[in-house]
Amino acid sequence: MVCLGNICRSPLAEGVLRHKLNEAGITHVSVDSAGTSGQHSGENPDARSVRNAKKNGVDISTLVSRKFTAADFGKFDRIYVMDQSNYRDVMNLAHTDEDRTKVELFLNISAPGKNKAVPDPWYGGEEGFQHVFDLVQETCDILVNEMKSKK
Ligand code: 4NP
Repeated sequence: MVCLGNICRSPLAEGVLRHKLNEAGITHVSVDSAGTSGQHSGENPDARSVRNAKKNGVDISTLVSRKFTAADFGKFDRIYVMDQSNYRDVMNLAHTDEDRTKVELFLNISAPGKNKAVPDPWYGGEEGFQHVFDLVQETCDILVNEMKSKK
């Protein structure tokens, strides 16, 4: 799960997906998140994101921001990006066609081919974080159901 700062959207997507995988008893999938900027590396998620996730039953307080690197292409089968800008930044680090086929907009899981972005909640208020949570939750449900059927 990749966004810009790795302190709002992608740690939430990581936490929600891990939570749902645990609930579903799926143990063979590992989940991580990173940011394209590296500007917040070493930091825990934004307090607003932590608070909103907790309100919705998911603890992301201990996650730590890190920068996405080209080495991630070797470590992960799928790389979900939150918006078009993240998509460009990640694609610019890809070396091979195999790397490139791993990259997909996260919301294309729930709305295939629509190329919708998870809006950046950084500059907005609490309702922006809840909107992001709703989008992430709905999309992770679909992803986990897909994984269940392939278990
Ligand atoms: P994120 O949100 O990409 O969802 O983690 C942001 C976090 C930090 C900044 C922008 C967006 N920033 O400008 O520092």
